[in-house]
Amino acid sequence: MERVARHIVSVGGGKGGVGKSVVAANLAVAMAQEGHRVALVDGDLGAANLHTLFGLTQPGPTLQDFVDHHLDSLEAARVETGVRRLTLVRGANAVFGAANPTHGSKQRLLRHVAALDADVVVIDVGAGTAFNQLDLFDLADRRLVVLTPQLTSVENAYGFVKAAVFRTLAPVLKAHGFDDVLDGPARSEATKLPAFIAEVAACSPKLGAELGEALQGFGLSLFGNLMHEPREAQVFQGVSRMMRDFLSLEVPVLGAARSMRAVHESVNHRRPVLVTHPQDESSVVFRRVANALLAAGVVTRRAA
Ligand SMILES: Nc1ncnc2c1ncn2[C@@H]1O[C@H](COP(=O)(O)OP(=O)(O)OP(=O)(O)O)[C@@H](O)[C@H]1O
Ligand SMILES: [Mg+2]
Repeated sequence: MERVARHIVSVGGGKGGVGKSVVAANLAVAMAQEGHRVALVDGDLGAANLHTLFGLTQPGPTLQDFVDHHLDSLEAARVETGVRRLTLVRGANAVFGAANPTHGSKQRLLRHVAALDADVVVIDVGAGTAFNQLDLFDLADRRLVVLTPQLTSVENAYGFVKAAVFRTLAPVLKAHGFDDVLDGPARSEATKLPAFIAEVAACSPKLGAELGEALQGFGLSLFGNLMHEPREAQVFQGVSRMMRDFLSLEVPVLGAARSMRAVHESVNHRRPVLVTHPQDESSVVFRRVANALLAAGVVTRRAA
């Protein structure tokens, strides 16, 4: 029997402290409140805090228990969040070596995240552009980059997306025997990806077409966060244009949230703002972005 429409949404952004966890948590709540069964995964391997955002103060199973083979299935690490239809796979906190799983462990983790029994899996991929973050980010059919209007965040968000694009293109290039192309000039700051792909396509039209296709399915969008005034939203539109011009990606800005007292307080009260202040401006943005993500997501059907 055909069952549910299933999406994987990943939330990344390169820079720490921009709101990835707050955004991932509230998008997951919004989706659960809309009636979807949601599995939220704390992929921040080493500095997890989604459990705190849901007030889970008692110890419980974590993703690390699965990585360490104390659990056979990631399903067994899902815990209730207090929000109906929403479960959480907690991350590991301050466990030595947690941030560096072996290749085999990571592949097993990726397989199990993708196989979680839920309508929507939401992954907080954590900060940084290491392969761990990129691979969790790339697992999704909808990828959301959280950034703030600050120059450092813009810089890191762009770098993060560029790294994710290269990670996506690398296997395509490798399959055609161009293993080392991405180590060359394509890596430089000044290279525009459209020009690079055109150059590759001139040598091999088939490869050029495959690279173009890989980017078309990239499913990337932006969430602007921590604005201090509404006109800062222009920064996010600028980043979107930059990603189109330099990376050949159409990247819509799905929403922009101001720095809101209700969000700040919700963190300290260990309840998502969508639960504590459902009518706050930020909650309205989170709901809108959650709906937009699901509306735009690639739907894959699976047998029950
Ligand atoms: N829209 C917002 N309004 C007010 N405060 C916010 C908003 N978004 C995030 N914050 C604040 O910023 C802090 C950092 O957010 P969060 O922990 O989600 O960032 P992060 O990107 O996940 O960081 P890390 O990379 O360290 O995991 C939160 O504690 C929260 O108080
Ligand atoms: Mg975080």
